[in-house]
Amino acid sequence: MKHLLITGGAGFIGSNFVRHVLAHTDHYVTVLDALTYAGNQDSLAGLDEARMRFVHGSIADSELVDTLVGDADVIVHFAAESHNDNSLHDPRPFLDTNIVGTYVLLEAARKHDVRLHHVSTDEVYGDLELDDPLRFSEHTPYNPSSPYSATKAGSDMLVRAWVRSFGVRATISNCSNNYGPYQHVEKFIPRQITNVIRGIRPKLYGAGLNVRDWIHADDHSSAVLTIIDNGQIGETYLIGADGEKNNKAVVEMILAEMGQGPDAYDHVTDRAGHDLRYAIDATRLRTELGWQPRFPDFAAGLRDTIAWYREHEEWWAPAKDATEAFYARRGQ
Ligand code: NAD
Ligand code: DAU
Repeated sequence: MKHLLITGGAGFIGSNFVRHVLAHTDHYVTVLDALTYAGNQDSLAGLDEARMRFVHGSIADSELVDTLVGDADVIVHFAAESHNDNSLHDPRPFLDTNIVGTYVLLEAARKHDVRLHHVSTDEVYGDLELDDPLRFSEHTPYNPSSPYSATKAGSDMLVRAWVRSFGVRATISNCSNNYGPYQHVEKFIPRQITNVIRGIRPKLYGAGLNVRDWIHADDHSSAVLTIIDNGQIGETYLIGADGEKNNKAVVEMILAEMGQGPDAYDHVTDRAGHDLRYAIDATRLRTELGWQPRFPDFAAGLRDTIAWYREHEEWWAPAKDATEAFYARRGQ
């Protein structure tokens, strides 16, 4: 039994991770979350309160972080500003949370000699051509495109420096695009599902040919737990489940599943600097640590995700209008 300090545990992947940990281990969990627009305590509703406590606060608050880290065995660091479109509009919170917040956690991990797992993204590697036979691996050079991915790349570099210079016991994972329940309606898949539920046509940026490598959030969780248990200190592991699809194909799958015609979507203004393709080679995680995805069937996972959004309108409706107003101001 370990005591995990999970930052960002009220967000999409963090809350799925908390559920996964409570269901599959006997660990005790402290969630530290600032409850920004992206955090939602309802995402943790109904979980075993004897094994979980929630602390409302920022990872950039060094006094609070020092106290919490002193009580923990492992820090699992999900907290971040996570949305590329927001980072193009207002980059500052991305520097404050993703860079300074990670620095504060690293200093506390160093002081208390507490193990840290840093959750990062494949976007640190930039993008690939559509016909590139290579995928991202642990050896791909960093080449981030957006303010979001630049701050995540910076946070990865801080972790590496604290490992090498101060002996902090840390690992890093870089995962591809997640989907599943509890994802904010600003993100591609929930935005389109909830648009269809609301009678709004889905919105594809540009031609819709950009490729993302989809993985179910629960598979991300099992991979992170595997790395915490068996990963080598100081090492990086890429997480992906061979789920490459272009955005147009995903919208067409959503439309078909929701009883709409294949053309019932709009092309809208493209994202500035829009990365063309992400693709992960997760060989190292599979062969060295024996991890395998449990939900590799994207069509089935998407069906379940659509059903979840149909059944949980009370969870997403409060954010929907403001999110669409934000996009409308940008012609998206
Ligand atoms: P999210 O935006 O849904 O959740 C982020 C959470 O962090 C929210 O609960 C928010 O309130 C909290 N938070 C933000 N600033 C904070 C601060 N200063 N202090 C404490 N809490 C704060 O994000 P997500 O999609 O769940 O992503 C979680 C992590 O996984 C991020 O680090 C992201 O870079 C990484 N990641 C995401 C994906 C993806 O597809 N979504 C893929 C790979 C990696
Ligand atoms: O690759 C991992 C990354 O995946 C994570 O690091 C990020 O935190 C996460 O947000 C995600 O980044 P993307 O920018 O790929 O995700 P997003 O859901 O914003 O967009 C997915 C694709 O869909 C992208 O090509 C942009 C496109 N898109 C997005 C929206 C919101 C549309 O075509 N229409 C839309 O309405």
